[in-house]
Amino acid sequence: MPQNNHNNTKAMLSKKVEEAINAQINAEIWSAYLYLSMSAYCHSIGQPGMANWFQVQFHEEQDHAKILFNYVNSRGGRVILKAIDAVPTEWGNILEVFENTLAHEQKVTALINNLYDIATQEKDFASQSKLQWFIDEQVEEEESAQTIIDNLRMIKDNGYGLYMLDKELGARTYKQASPLASSED
Ligand code: FEO
Repeated sequence: MPQNNHNNTKAMLSKKVEEAINAQINAEIWSAYLYLSMSAYCHSIGQPGMANWFQVQFHEEQDHAKILFNYVNSRGGRVILKAIDAVPTEWGNILEVFENTLAHEQKVTALINNLYDIATQEKDFASQSKLQWFIDEQVEEEESAQTIIDNLRMIKDNGYGLYMLDKELGARTYKQASPLASSED
């Protein structure tokens, strides 16, 4: 029984994988929104470099959503966009922001692992291959948040240290995610 009315010979996504990837697109957009909110908070406490770091993060999360969006379409699936939940807007201090970032990325890692698991159960090898990039990306995401947390804990209330870290994070630049670099998106 065909999954939908598309009349092509492409190996289509199963409904289960399609729904799980759609949910992940929503989670990636929510992540983008969360980091934009964190960027606003950093501006509000006079940390423009950290605000920049979160802006880059905001762009990267949109890339993650786009990779999945393109992938669903390339497999003859249907992207369905749902509402984006509200995000937090206030944190107690800058350390809390990065601790929240790490905790969030750990949650995303669990979501990606679950998605991979579904693709495996469905014997969907192409989706497993596509998700491999996300699995590797999550290692980097968690590591970079952890490094900044370590730095902030070391600095504590040292104003000069905070100034230097803000400068360093201000130098971060956005680079399009490699799976998108070869496409027109
Ligand atoms: Fe899209 Fe930060 O994981």
